[in-house]
Amino acid sequence: MKRVLSGIKPSGELNIGGFGGALQPFLTIQQEYECFFFVPDLHAVTVKQDPKELYQRSKDIAAFYIAAGIDPKKCTIFIQSQVPAHAELGWLMETQTHFGELGRMTQYKEKSEGKDSVSAALFTYPALMAADILLYQATHVPVGDDQKQHLELTRDLAQRFNNRYGSTFVVPEPIIQSLGSRIMGLDDPSKKMSKSNPNRNSCVHLLDSPDEIRKKFAKAVTDSEGSVRLDWETKPAVSNLMEIYAVFSGDSIAAIERRYEGQGYGSFKKDLAEAAAERLIPIQERYREIVDSAELIAILKDGALKASEAANATLLRAKQAMGFVTF
Ligand code: TYM
Repeated sequence: MKRVLSGIKPSGELNIGGFGGALQPFLTIQQEYECFFFVPDLHAVTVKQDPKELYQRSKDIAAFYIAAGIDPKKCTIFIQSQVPAHAELGWLMETQTHFGELGRMTQYKEKSEGKDSVSAALFTYPALMAADILLYQATHVPVGDDQKQHLELTRDLAQRFNNRYGSTFVVPEPIIQSLGSRIMGLDDPSKKMSKSNPNRNSCVHLLDSPDEIRKKFAKAVTDSEGSVRLDWETKPAVSNLMEIYAVFSGDSIAAIERRYEGQGYGSFKKDLAEAAAERLIPIQERYREIVDSAELIAILKDGALKASEAANATLLRAKQAMGFVTF
């Protein structure tokens, strides 16, 4: 059976980077796989979070899953901290992880760079991420490009555990889309579009109004060549906008190049904003209906029960394999 586990951290306002790299792929993946989609709130607190914001954002991410079209009847949707097995297997995986491996993680290096002190959890985070995935015996994990290294470590840890203690975990494969898996900032195409960037014009948020969307794309950096052509080496800003266009319109890059041949960036940027707004407005409407509803709470409660059942079975196997006393 093919099974998927993936999630989006409630560490900031969701933007079109997470949409292109994760949320949109989840929608097609749910047709083919048994899916667990979760809100990794334990990961969000590896950096300082305001409790009220964490609470709201955790519900937001769950509501966006449903508003975008994840079917809660087909998929298990839950909040990580409601399934204690994550924290417990996270600890066990830390015991299998080498200090040097964690130190090589580029996300840790980026997030800790220039800081006087960071939490120990920011360092050990990839071991918890491995636990998230291994608990569900996920065969596949859809992620954006920036999570590739964490997935490689997860695979190494699963294999290491299986070699030491006997076959316990499925070794998962990443699913990384060819389009939309690395959406860059609108202000600087050398930096990933990120929830933690304080410059609000660097990204389009999922809750931006059509006007804000238009303004942000109008301001997005381009280049002086004036041709809509994909070339990440010499035209990263325009290539990024083209990928975003492809994500929202469903058109191929070749079709986009053909459509805007011989034109400047003006109409391309306008159409891009319309394509994004057309896709996001219905999601926003559904999000507003659901975010504070009893329906959302019921889905999350049911999801936590189903997830616990699957996670607890794996946790028990892992503990028995390691020699813990279990009854
Ligand atoms: P997070 O919350 O940073 O991002 C959620 C997902 O969105 C993708 N993504 C992007 N894709 C394309 N362009 C971007 N600019 C962009 N920004 C984010 C990410 O690659 C990710 O797939 N560690 C994870 C959360 C996590 C997880 C897991 C994911 C915890 N446990 C287990 C999968 C399985 C994270 O921080 O993602």
